[in-house]
Amino acid sequence: MIETGGIDPDTWNRWHVVGCHDELPTDGPRTTRLLGRAITVARRGAGADVRLGDGTPLPAQIAYGYVWTSLGTPGPLFELPEYAEADRRNLNGCSFGVRTSPPRAIENFLDMAHFPFVHTGILGEEDHPDVKDYDVAISADGREVVASNCLFYQPKAAAASTGGAEVSYRYRVPHPWCAVLYKDSPVKPGRMDVIALFIQPCGEEEIIANLALFILDDDTPLPALRRFQQQIFVQDKPILENQMPRRLPLYPRADSPVRADKASIAYRRWLRQLGTTYGVLS
Ligand SMILES: [Fe+2]
Repeated sequence: MIETGGIDPDTWNRWHVVGCHDELPTDGPRTTRLLGRAITVARRGAGADVRLGDGTPLPAQIAYGYVWTSLGTPGPLFELPEYAEADRRNLNGCSFGVRTSPPRAIENFLDMAHFPFVHTGILGEEDHPDVKDYDVAISADGREVVASNCLFYQPKAAAASTGGAEVSYRYRVPHPWCAVLYKDSPVKPGRMDVIALFIQPCGEEEIIANLALFILDDDTPLPALRRFQQQIFVQDKPILENQMPRRLPLYPRADSPVRADKASIAYRRWLRQLGTTYGVLS
């Protein structure tokens, strides 16, 4: 039994991402951090061996190209069926260390209102600043937050885009620190690219953000795909790091008088339902 150090049960018993499997070193374990503890992650063929710093083995599984582990007794990981679709390219777009809490990074990922000002000329432009109304709900089983029917004008929605387009978005938050975005594919009409943010919670104010791509674009070379994602992430990083407090406030009317976004209101409500206290102010 590992000492929880006061970490809430939902956080303690979840699977957490601890790196992209393909990017693990081949010559020995990688040392990293999870929930304030030192851990090692080593490649074992198609699997991985994860241990606490003192050598205690932890549960490990590979899913969606990443290594997942837990300090507690985890249930099943959320489903991401698109990963198994034969015509998708699945890859880690980029991984960045950021000095912020896990839920701040998820909230930023859900927030379309920052596109025109932070990702000007790519995900938004200043003369199309409006976020049109969309639907958001906590699923009936309480296991995820879903935002749907989001529409946004984007000058360059993806690496493969050839011009601006009104892009349709759908978000799922199936884990407190994992968010999955579905957006119109620029190359396969009627299908959606999947872009996921998998947050490794190194500490309460220290994360590694992994941007996973499950996309229908067969043509853009890998370096260009990675550059596109990195360019966007480099724009978000200083904004996340300058946001104070670093932990996400969950107490009532935390964001008053600033109008909080619908998706973030539902996300905060869901975290309260889960009893999450890690990385938040309650
Ligand atoms: Fe952003």
